[in-house]
Amino acid sequence: MVLLAIESSCDESAVALLEQYDSGVVSVRAELISSQIDTHRLYGGVVPEIASREHLKALPVLVKQVVQKADCQLSDLSAIAVTQGPGLKGCLLMGICFARGLAHARRVPLFGVHHIEGHILAPLLDNPDLQPPYLALVVSGGHTEIIQVDAIGSYRVLARTSDDAAGEAFDKSAHLLGFPYPGGAQLAALADTVTASRFKLPKVMREAPGFSFSGLKTAVSLLIKKQAGELEDPLIRAELAFAIQAAIVDALCFKLKKAIKETGIKTVALTGGVAANSFLRTMVSSLTDSLYAPHIVHCTDNAAMIGYTALAREHVGLSQGNGKAVFARLPVEQEMPQ
Ligand code: KG4
Ligand code: ZN
Repeated sequence: MVLLAIESSCDESAVALLEQYDSGVVSVRAELISSQIDTHRLYGGVVPEIASREHLKALPVLVKQVVQKADCQLSDLSAIAVTQGPGLKGCLLMGICFARGLAHARRVPLFGVHHIEGHILAPLLDNPDLQPPYLALVVSGGHTEIIQVDAIGSYRVLARTSDDAAGEAFDKSAHLLGFPYPGGAQLAALADTVTASRFKLPKVMREAPGFSFSGLKTAVSLLIKKQAGELEDPLIRAELAFAIQAAIVDALCFKLKKAIKETGIKTVALTGGVAANSFLRTMVSSLTDSLYAPHIVHCTDNAAMIGYTALAREHVGLSQGNGKAVFARLPVEQEMPQ
């Protein structure tokens, strides 16, 4: 089966062409991601209306390029998959309408895919030896969740954030340190230039079941205000970044450790944009010998994970690819946060 996948839930327009063989093995024949970060940086965050228009411009170009790169024709497609949600409504609508039109024109089935299911299955795409059950720590700019993956289509949310996501905590702190949007990766790079910090931040949400980063955000803001006169000092800046990164990673690892203990599942898969953080990877690897992550390009929003999810569901008989099902409730939505 040759499947074209489309992702447009936030500020990345992404298209991938995947092939699934009879054995069930999936290969990505070509993929492209067009990030809108430079456009949104001017405004300090994603502007939904602009993001939707950018998707409309990018998707037809990306589809053409990906099909060419994979040495295929549109007539070779056997199905199309598209992110159904959650995400920015206008952005999703662009991807869905585009995919629906293409599926209708090519007379092929259309699969609607849950974006978070895409993230939690992304580690399977790049690690053939990874098998459920595993715990997926989904950490991105929009999501922070620990999900128990028992099988394809069988998930249990063990913890989720009640306010900001881990990526937002990185980005908002980075903003306070004067980094341009999104800033998370730059804050992390600065933090990694030192190995300790004179600054201490509170350990947040120890007792509650989920994550919350709003208290930490206030503490970071107060700490940075207190150091306002010394923010030009490179060592002070680096140690502030170190303390912030350590506090966010500590909050994630504390709940992950608890989830490993409670479920007895020791295999962990990191996924989402923040999974690129090397300090997080190091700290999580101290909790388990069995740690997986997708390739960096599949940590952030991408279409290969959306295509992989559609194919994996199809392979186990869970898909709803009939060209009309794109707005239908997928079973996973009952388990997942919107
Ligand atoms: O998954 P993603 O590309 O988009 C969303 O769905 O949100 O994640 C983007 C988030 C941003 O908040 C970005 O600052 C953060 O991931 N991020 C990082 C790193 N690389 C990206 N945060 C911390 N350390 C990094 N190395
Ligand atoms: Zn995402």
